Amino acid sequence: MKLNFTEIDKNVYDHIKSNKEISFEKLINNLEEDTDSVRRSLELLKDNNIISEQIKVINFYEISEIGKVAVKEGLVEKHFCDYLKNNVVKVSELKDLEINNFSKNDCSLAFGIAKNNNLISIEKGVIVVKADYDKLINKVLDNLKNIKEVSDQKVIDALLKRKLILKKQMTEKRYTFLEDADFEVVKDNTLFLSSKLLKSGEYKDIKFKEYEVSKLPKPKQIGRIHPLRQIIYYIRDLYLEMGFKEMTSPYVETSFWPMDSMFISQDHPMREIQDTFYLPDKGTLPDKELTGKIALVHESGGKTGSLGHQYKWDIEAAKQLVLRSHTTAATYRKFYELTDEEKKECKYFSIGKVFRNETIDSTHLPEFHHAEGFVIGKGLSLAHLIGFIKVFFKKLGIENIKIKPTYNPYTEPSVEVFAYLPSLGKWAEIMNSGVFRKESLEPYGIEGDVIAWGIGIERIAMLVYGKRNIKDIYGDECDIDWLRSYTLPPRKIK
Ligand code: PHE
Repeated sequence: MKLNFTEIDKNVYDHIKSNKEISFEKLINNLEEDTDSVRRSLELLKDNNIISEQIKVINFYEISEIGKVAVKEGLVEKHFCDYLKNNVVKVSELKDLEINNFSKNDCSLAFGIAKNNNLISIEKGVIVVKADYDKLINKVLDNLKNIKEVSDQKVIDALLKRKLILKKQMTEKRYTFLEDADFEVVKDNTLFLSSKLLKSGEYKDIKFKEYEVSKLPKPKQIGRIHPLRQIIYYIRDLYLEMGFKEMTSPYVETSFWPMDSMFISQDHPMREIQDTFYLPDKGTLPDKELTGKIALVHESGGKTGSLGHQYKWDIEAAKQLVLRSHTTAATYRKFYELTDEEKKECKYFSIGKVFRNETIDSTHLPEFHHAEGFVIGKGLSLAHLIGFIKVFFKKLGIENIKIKPTYNPYTEPSVEVFAYLPSLGKWAEIMNSGVFRKESLEPYGIEGDVIAWGIGIERIAMLVYGKRNIKDIYGDECDIDWLRSYTLPPRKIK
């Protein structure tokens, strides 16, 4: 079949044919045609197997910022050797040596370089500079300045190691002529229909270039929502559908919010450095009215009938900044803000990052996500909590769960939920929950009963996506192909 070529198609064809092989850059420069048109011609020629395209990766080296400074101000070994030429320096004096504005590090660096490059020798403990040191150093400088022409890999490696140069890469497209084409040049092979052509009616007599519509374009690598984010949206939707309102709290907290505010004693193991990330500074606490009530409930139980922790509550310890270790901090910040109505009845949730000083394994990361929630209502009990757990996880499509009693300093009773992870062949905790203790509610004047929980989102994601390792879900070890191709299972119940 005869192909229809435009003038540009023919030019590109002729040019590649006469050159046999040519780079894209050269082609553009030589032809002086519009780049997009050349590209279109190349596609046509490629599609008809008249030419082939190769992509070549070219490595090259460029002087770095450090290198530029060295060229301008001289290499460290130059300053060092110049100094040695005029001063007697013993090896033992090296560590206290002061040369102009050299730092101690520069001195030992310069010594190392000078020694490796035979610019100095050591005679009876004294550093002696070689006569031809300037010549040797200038050679390094010359190489640095003309790095594009240097081909000796040893020289390149030495400069790279000193960070004086940087390795760069570029790709180059090249086209090779394959075989002659059977074509005719169609002069008025118009590409685009314009309003001018339409208005004048000229379009009726024009021969338009044919479009190839049978071929699909190559799939594009576009950004996608991260699979973990999908689970977060999914859980968030679920909460909103169930009538919960959203609450938030900062990552950096005074110990007060994730610990003291909820009756966690100041000597509780959760406060240990192994479990919580501490920051060096202290933060500010809410007003004295609240801290006073918290002190009272910790020290003697306040009016709750409890004896409290029987110690002196230390306000300074509560100011210490930490990375929040659970989103229950958001719950207690919300307790502090509730209206009188809400103190009797309300539902809130929060989804966010939490931080724990954990050893990393297949189900633990030091940074992960919690989906927190609480319900305040009259007469709420463990039975309601278990009812909620069953409904919530069923909605998420997770039905193979076990519920077992546990202990939390701020809830009584407390239960943990385990789900069977078929990918790991074992049960893993996906939720911790309970009914808040009176000691943790009284300072906020909450009259209703409160059920609450925290859900580990990465574990839910492992279940939903059938992954064996938490690092397959979150973090830089996630498989990029999976991130691009994963499918989210449909929700079972709306
Ligand atoms: N804060 C608990 C955790 O980190 C979860 C929880 C929240 C438990 C509320 C009981 C009540 O696992």
